Amino acid sequence: MTDKETIYKELLPQALSLLEGETDEVACMANLAALLHSAFGFWWTGFYRVMGGELVLGPFQGPVACIRIPYGRGVCGTAWERDETVVVPDVELFPGHIACSSESRSEIVVPVRRDGHVVAVLDIDSRELSTFDDTDRNYLEQIVQSIFA
Ligand code: SME
Repeated sequence: MTDKETIYKELLPQALSLLEGETDEVACMANLAALLHSAFGFWWTGFYRVMGGELVLGPFQGPVACIRIPYGRGVCGTAWERDETVVVPDVELFPGHIACSSESRSEIVVPVRRDGHVVAVLDIDSRELSTFDDTDRNYLEQIVQSIFA
């Protein structure tokens, strides 16, 4: 088991109990961003919510970020359009990547679904190349599901 898998296995039940019974999605997103950000020390960890046909900045941890992202634009808008998690090992090689911070080198964006529709995305940025892989994809997909469980 990789080190990150050990951390995710500990985080998963914490996330579930943290969100249990809470119906306010912003509160849930805020605590999940804090939980993940502090556990891994990522550069930026946060949510964009689907609002009025675009993504709007939601709860996050890290430096200030772009506020609005159109459908299909950047890594976030692409994950929303494809309705699937997007892992980017090197942001400079992703066409249309939106650089909110020049420090960001790799990124993962995970759709958050309610009733089968994407209503938000979880976006995590790292200052290292190739930080994210299938382990992150697997656990982060499970963790974000707890928002609307
Ligand atoms: N890089 C993202 C924009 C959001 S920031 O990373 C916080 C993108 O390309 O969609």
